[in-house]
Amino acid sequence: MRLLNASGCLDALAAPEVARELDGFVTKTVTPLPREGAAPPRIAETAHGMLNAIGLANPGRERFLADHLPRLRELGVPVWVSVGGFCADDYAETCSRLTDIEAVELNLSCPNVDEAADSAAEIVAACRSATPLPLYAKLSAAHPDIAEVARAVAAAGADGLSLVNTLRGTALDKQLRPMLARGSGGYSGPALKPVALHAVRVCAEATGLPIVGMGGVASGRDALEFLACGARDVALGTVLFSDPGAPARVRSELAAACADAGVASPDDAVGIAKTPETGEKITA
Ligand SMILES: Cc1cc2nc3c(=O)[nH]c(=O)nc-3n(C[C@H](O)[C@H](O)[C@H](O)COP(=O)(O)O)c2cc1C
Repeated sequence: MRLLNASGCLDALAAPEVARELDGFVTKTVTPLPREGAAPPRIAETAHGMLNAIGLANPGRERFLADHLPRLRELGVPVWVSVGGFCADDYAETCSRLTDIEAVELNLSCPNVDEAADSAAEIVAACRSATPLPLYAKLSAAHPDIAEVARAVAAAGADGLSLVNTLRGTALDKQLRPMLARGSGGYSGPALKPVALHAVRVCAEATGLPIVGMGGVASGRDALEFLACGARDVALGTVLFSDPGAPARVRSELAAACADAGVASPDDAVGIAKTPETGEKITA
Protein backbone atom coordinates (compact mmCIF):
# COMPACT_ATOMS: atom_id res chain seq x y z
CA MET A 1 0.00 0.00 0.00
CA ARG A 2 1.25 3.44 -0.93
CA LEU A 3 0.01 6.56 0.82
CA LEU A 4 -0.35 9.52 -1.56
CA ASN A 5 -1.93 12.97 -1.45
CA ALA A 6 -5.04 13.69 -3.52
CA SER A 7 -4.39 16.07 -6.42
CA GLY A 8 -4.84 19.75 -5.51
CA CYS A 9 -4.67 19.13 -1.76
CA LEU A 10 -0.94 19.59 -1.14
CA ASP A 11 1.67 22.00 -2.53
CA ALA A 12 4.85 19.94 -2.21
CA LEU A 13 7.11 22.88 -3.03
CA ALA A 14 5.54 24.93 -0.22
CA ALA A 15 5.40 22.01 2.25
CA PRO A 16 8.18 19.57 1.29
CA GLU A 17 8.23 18.04 4.77
CA VAL A 18 4.61 16.89 4.33
CA ALA A 19 5.31 15.51 0.84
CA ARG A 20 8.28 13.52 2.17
CA GLU A 21 5.94 11.64 4.53
CA LEU A 22 4.14 10.24 1.48
CA ASP A 23 5.03 7.36 -0.85
CA GLY A 24 4.28 9.58 -3.81
CA PHE A 25 3.32 13.17 -4.51
CA VAL A 26 0.44 13.85 -6.92
CA THR A 27 0.56 17.32 -8.54
CA LYS A 28 -2.32 19.72 -8.99
CA THR A 29 -3.89 19.07 -12.42
CA VAL A 30 -1.78 20.59 -15.21
CA THR A 31 -3.60 22.00 -18.24
CA PRO A 32 -2.03 23.04 -21.57
CA LEU A 33 -2.39 26.78 -20.88
CA PRO A 34 -1.99 28.60 -17.55
CA ARG A 35 -5.25 29.06 -15.65
CA GLU A 36 -6.02 31.74 -13.09
CA GLY A 37 -8.89 29.62 -11.82
CA ALA A 38 -12.29 30.79 -10.63
CA ALA A 39 -13.04 34.09 -8.86
CA PRO A 40 -12.96 34.11 -5.02
CA PRO A 41 -14.45 32.97 -2.71
CA ARG A 42 -13.33 29.55 -3.97
CA ILE A 43 -13.56 27.54 -0.75
CA ALA A 44 -16.49 27.05 1.65
CA GLU A 45 -16.84 24.87 4.72
CA THR A 46 -20.04 22.90 5.26
CA ALA A 47 -21.19 20.68 8.12
CA HIS A 48 -19.81 17.45 6.68
CA GLY A 49 -17.26 18.47 4.07
CA MET A 50 -15.71 21.21 2.04
CA LEU A 51 -16.74 22.86 -1.21
CA ASN A 52 -14.10 24.17 -3.62
CA ALA A 53 -14.28 25.91 -6.93
CA ILE A 54 -10.60 26.44 -7.64
CA GLY A 55 -11.23 25.99 -11.36
CA LEU A 56 -7.94 24.16 -12.02
CA ALA A 57 -5.69 27.15 -11.29
CA ASN A 58 -2.23 26.04 -12.47
CA PRO A 59 0.85 27.44 -14.19
CA GLY A 60 0.18 25.63 -17.46
CA ARG A 61 2.16 22.89 -19.19
CA GLU A 62 5.23 24.84 -20.30
CA ARG A 63 5.98 26.45 -16.95
CA PHE A 64 5.17 23.25 -15.12
CA LEU A 65 7.64 21.27 -17.25
CA ALA A 66 10.39 23.88 -17.21
CA ASP A 67 10.16 25.07 -13.63
CA HIS A 68 7.92 23.05 -11.28
CA LEU A 69 8.65 19.47 -12.35
CA PRO A 70 12.47 19.69 -12.02
CA ARG A 71 12.04 21.08 -8.49
CA LEU A 72 9.50 18.38 -7.60
CA ARG A 73 11.90 15.66 -8.78
CA GLU A 74 14.53 17.02 -6.37
CA LEU A 75 12.27 16.32 -3.37
CA GLY A 76 13.18 12.65 -3.62
CA VAL A 77 9.50 11.59 -3.57
CA PRO A 78 8.05 9.67 -6.56
CA VAL A 79 6.07 12.20 -8.61
CA TRP A 80 2.66 11.54 -10.12
CA VAL A 81 1.54 14.22 -12.58
CA SER A 82 -2.17 14.96 -12.82
CA VAL A 83 -3.02 15.86 -16.40
CA GLY A 84 -6.09 17.79 -17.55
CA GLY A 85 -7.34 19.29 -20.77
CA PHE A 86 -10.31 20.01 -22.95
CA CYS A 87 -9.92 17.35 -25.64
CA ALA A 88 -8.00 14.09 -26.08
CA ASP A 89 -5.14 15.83 -27.92
CA ASP A 90 -4.57 18.20 -24.97
CA TYR A 91 -4.09 15.25 -22.63
CA ALA A 92 -1.97 13.25 -25.08
CA GLU A 93 0.37 16.17 -25.82
CA THR A 94 1.13 16.65 -22.11
CA CYS A 95 1.62 12.90 -21.63
CA SER A 96 4.10 12.77 -24.50
CA ARG A 97 6.22 15.46 -22.80
CA LEU A 98 6.43 13.72 -19.40
CA THR A 99 9.49 11.63 -18.49
CA ASP A 100 11.19 10.47 -15.35
CA ILE A 101 8.06 10.41 -13.19
CA GLU A 102 6.26 7.58 -11.38
CA ALA A 103 2.86 7.78 -13.05
CA VAL A 104 0.33 9.96 -14.84
CA GLU A 105 -3.11 10.57 -13.38
CA LEU A 106 -5.63 11.63 -16.02
CA ASN A 107 -8.16 13.99 -14.47
CA LEU A 108 -11.26 12.96 -16.40
CA SER A 109 -13.59 14.34 -13.77
CA CYS A 110 -13.07 17.93 -12.61
CA PRO A 111 -16.41 19.44 -11.54
CA ASN A 112 -15.13 23.02 -11.79
CA VAL A 113 -14.44 23.16 -15.51
CA ASP A 114 -16.69 22.30 -18.40
CA GLU A 115 -16.43 18.61 -19.20
CA ALA A 116 -13.92 17.56 -21.82
CA ALA A 117 -15.95 16.96 -24.96
CA ASP A 118 -14.17 13.70 -25.75
CA SER A 119 -15.10 10.56 -23.87
CA ALA A 120 -13.00 9.16 -21.05
CA ALA A 121 -12.06 6.11 -23.14
CA GLU A 122 -11.03 8.25 -26.10
CA ILE A 123 -8.78 10.37 -23.90
CA VAL A 124 -7.18 7.29 -22.31
CA ALA A 125 -6.59 5.70 -25.72
CA ALA A 126 -4.90 8.89 -27.02
CA CYS A 127 -2.66 9.04 -23.93
CA ARG A 128 -1.87 5.32 -24.20
CA SER A 129 -0.38 5.97 -27.64
CA ALA A 130 1.54 8.98 -26.31
CA THR A 131 3.39 7.48 -23.32
CA PRO A 132 4.62 4.19 -21.85
CA LEU A 133 4.20 5.63 -18.31
CA PRO A 134 1.60 4.05 -16.00
CA LEU A 135 -1.76 5.76 -16.63
CA TYR A 136 -4.29 6.13 -13.82
CA ALA A 137 -7.74 7.33 -14.89
CA LYS A 138 -9.38 9.53 -12.26
CA LEU A 139 -13.14 9.18 -12.40
CA SER A 140 -16.12 10.87 -10.84
CA ALA A 141 -18.74 9.05 -8.82
CA ALA A 142 -21.35 11.32 -10.41
CA HIS A 143 -21.66 8.94 -13.35
CA PRO A 144 -24.72 6.70 -12.90
CA ASP A 145 -22.64 3.58 -13.64
CA ILE A 146 -19.02 4.20 -12.70
CA ALA A 147 -18.14 0.52 -13.25
CA GLU A 148 -19.08 0.91 -16.91
CA VAL A 149 -16.71 3.89 -17.27
CA ALA A 150 -14.02 1.89 -15.46
CA ARG A 151 -14.40 -1.01 -17.91
CA ALA A 152 -14.20 1.40 -20.85
CA VAL A 153 -11.00 3.09 -19.66
CA ALA A 154 -9.48 -0.31 -18.81
CA ALA A 155 -10.19 -1.49 -22.37
CA ALA A 156 -8.62 1.74 -23.67
CA GLY A 157 -5.36 0.97 -21.88
CA ALA A 158 -5.54 2.47 -18.38
CA ASP A 159 -3.16 0.77 -15.92
CA GLY A 160 -5.09 1.88 -12.85
CA LEU A 161 -7.93 3.98 -11.49
CA SER A 162 -8.01 6.90 -9.06
CA LEU A 163 -11.36 6.97 -7.28
CA VAL A 164 -13.01 9.38 -6.64
CA ASN A 165 -13.03 13.05 -7.54
CA THR A 166 -15.37 15.50 -5.81
CA LEU A 167 -19.13 15.67 -6.38
CA ARG A 168 -20.87 18.92 -7.32
CA GLY A 169 -22.45 20.76 -4.42
CA THR A 170 -23.86 24.13 -3.32
CA ALA A 171 -23.76 25.82 0.09
CA LEU A 172 -25.66 28.97 1.08
CA ASP A 173 -24.72 31.69 3.56
CA LYS A 174 -27.05 33.28 6.14
CA GLN A 175 -28.50 35.58 3.50
CA LEU A 176 -29.22 32.54 1.31
CA ARG A 177 -26.56 33.48 -1.23
CA PRO A 178 -24.21 30.83 -2.60
CA MET A 179 -20.99 30.86 -0.57
CA LEU A 180 -18.86 30.25 -3.66
CA ALA A 181 -18.57 32.89 -6.37
CA ARG A 182 -19.29 30.22 -8.98
CA GLY A 183 -22.46 29.15 -7.14
CA SER A 184 -21.39 25.50 -7.00
CA GLY A 185 -18.17 23.61 -6.45
CA GLY A 186 -16.63 20.20 -5.76
CA TYR A 187 -17.76 18.60 -2.50
CA SER A 188 -15.07 16.65 -0.63
CA GLY A 189 -14.34 15.31 2.84
CA PRO A 190 -16.03 12.86 5.23
CA ALA A 191 -19.44 12.81 3.51
CA LEU A 192 -17.81 11.45 0.35
CA LYS A 193 -16.48 8.27 1.96
CA PRO A 194 -19.45 5.91 1.47
CA VAL A 195 -19.83 7.09 -2.13
CA ALA A 196 -16.12 6.53 -2.75
CA LEU A 197 -16.09 3.11 -1.08
CA HIS A 198 -18.93 2.03 -3.36
CA ALA A 199 -17.05 3.28 -6.42
CA VAL A 200 -13.88 1.43 -5.38
CA ARG A 201 -15.77 -1.79 -4.65
CA VAL A 202 -17.68 -1.95 -7.94
CA CYS A 203 -14.71 -0.82 -10.07
CA ALA A 204 -12.37 -3.34 -8.41
CA GLU A 205 -14.90 -6.05 -9.17
CA ALA A 206 -15.45 -4.80 -12.72
CA THR A 207 -11.81 -4.39 -13.78
CA GLY A 208 -9.35 -5.89 -11.29
CA LEU A 209 -7.17 -2.82 -11.96
CA PRO A 210 -5.03 -1.31 -9.18
CA ILE A 211 -6.99 1.51 -7.54
CA VAL A 212 -5.93 4.60 -5.60
CA GLY A 213 -8.84 5.11 -3.21
CA MET A 214 -9.74 8.56 -1.89
CA GLY A 215 -12.71 10.51 -0.59
CA GLY A 216 -12.94 11.56 3.03
CA VAL A 217 -10.00 9.55 4.33
CA ALA A 218 -9.12 11.09 7.70
CA SER A 219 -7.98 8.11 9.79
CA GLY A 220 -6.22 4.78 9.56
CA ARG A 221 -9.57 3.00 9.86
CA ASP A 222 -10.84 4.98 6.83
CA ALA A 223 -7.77 3.92 4.85
CA LEU A 224 -8.31 0.28 5.87
CA GLU A 225 -11.90 0.41 4.61
CA PHE A 226 -10.70 1.60 1.18
CA LEU A 227 -8.21 -1.27 1.05
CA ALA A 228 -10.88 -3.76 2.09
CA CYS A 229 -13.11 -2.53 -0.75
CA GLY A 230 -10.32 -3.24 -3.24
CA ALA A 231 -8.02 -0.18 -3.31
CA ARG A 232 -4.28 -0.96 -3.45
CA ASP A 233 -3.22 2.57 -2.53
CA VAL A 234 -4.87 5.40 -0.60
CA ALA A 235 -4.77 9.19 -1.02
CA LEU A 236 -5.35 11.94 1.54
CA GLY A 237 -7.19 15.05 0.36
CA THR A 238 -9.25 17.48 2.41
CA VAL A 239 -7.77 16.22 5.70
CA LEU A 240 -4.41 17.74 4.71
CA PHE A 241 -5.85 21.27 4.96
CA SER A 242 -6.67 20.82 8.65
CA ASP A 243 -3.94 18.34 9.58
CA PRO A 244 -0.63 18.45 7.69
CA GLY A 245 0.56 15.71 10.06
CA ALA A 246 -2.09 13.34 8.66
CA PRO A 247 0.28 11.15 6.58
CA ALA A 248 2.29 9.95 9.59
CA ARG A 249 -0.80 9.75 11.80
CA VAL A 250 -2.87 7.79 9.27
CA ARG A 251 0.01 5.38 8.68
CA SER A 252 0.40 4.55 12.36
CA GLU A 253 -3.39 4.37 12.88
CA LEU A 254 -3.60 2.03 9.88
CA ALA A 255 -1.20 -0.43 11.50
CA ALA A 256 -3.36 -0.38 14.65
CA ALA A 257 -6.59 -0.69 12.63
CA CYS A 258 -5.18 -3.74 10.83
CA ALA A 259 -4.32 -5.34 14.17
CA ASP A 260 -7.84 -4.57 15.49
CA ALA A 261 -9.38 -6.17 12.42
CA GLY A 262 -7.12 -9.21 12.62
CA VAL A 263 -5.41 -8.41 9.31
CA ALA A 264 -1.66 -9.02 9.12
CA SER A 265 -0.77 -5.95 7.03
CA PRO A 266 -2.41 -3.26 4.85
CA ASP A 267 -1.55 -5.25 1.72
CA ASP A 268 -3.33 -8.29 3.16
CA ALA A 269 -6.47 -6.18 3.59
CA VAL A 270 -6.86 -5.44 -0.14
CA GLY A 271 -10.25 -6.69 -1.33
CA ILE A 272 -11.24 -8.55 1.83
CA ALA A 273 -14.66 -6.86 2.08
CA LYS A 274 -17.13 -9.47 1.04
CA THR A 275 -20.05 -8.55 -1.17
CA PRO A 276 -23.31 -9.34 0.61
CA GLU A 277 -24.74 -10.93 -2.56
CA THR A 278 -22.00 -13.43 -3.25
CA GLY A 279 -19.85 -13.62 -0.13
CA GLU A 280 -16.91 -13.65 -2.53
CA LYS A 281 -13.69 -11.74 -1.94
CA ILE A 282 -13.42 -8.71 -4.20
CA THR A 283 -10.84 -9.28 -6.92
CA ALA A 284 -8.17 -6.60 -6.89
C1 LIG B 1 -9.07 22.35 -2.86
C2 LIG B 1 -9.14 21.12 -3.74
C3 LIG B 1 -8.52 21.12 -4.98
C4 LIG B 1 -8.58 19.99 -5.80
N1 LIG B 1 -7.95 20.00 -7.01
C5 LIG B 1 -7.96 18.88 -7.78
C6 LIG B 1 -7.24 18.84 -9.01
O1 LIG B 1 -6.57 19.79 -9.43
N2 LIG B 1 -7.30 17.69 -9.73
C7 LIG B 1 -8.00 16.58 -9.32
O2 LIG B 1 -8.00 15.55 -10.01
N3 LIG B 1 -8.67 16.60 -8.14
C8 LIG B 1 -8.66 17.71 -7.38
N4 LIG B 1 -9.32 17.71 -6.18
C9 LIG B 1 -10.05 16.49 -5.74
C10 LIG B 1 -9.19 15.64 -4.80
O3 LIG B 1 -8.02 15.22 -5.45
C11 LIG B 1 -9.98 14.41 -4.29
O4 LIG B 1 -10.33 13.61 -5.41
C12 LIG B 1 -11.26 14.78 -3.55
O5 LIG B 1 -11.09 15.96 -2.78
C13 LIG B 1 -11.76 13.64 -2.66
O6 LIG B 1 -10.86 13.36 -1.62
P1 LIG B 1 -11.00 14.00 -0.12
O7 LIG B 1 -12.45 13.86 0.29
O8 LIG B 1 -10.07 13.23 0.72
O9 LIG B 1 -10.63 15.45 -0.25
C14 LIG B 1 -9.28 18.83 -5.36
C15 LIG B 1 -9.89 18.83 -4.08
C16 LIG B 1 -9.84 19.95 -3.28
C17 LIG B 1 -10.50 19.91 -1.92
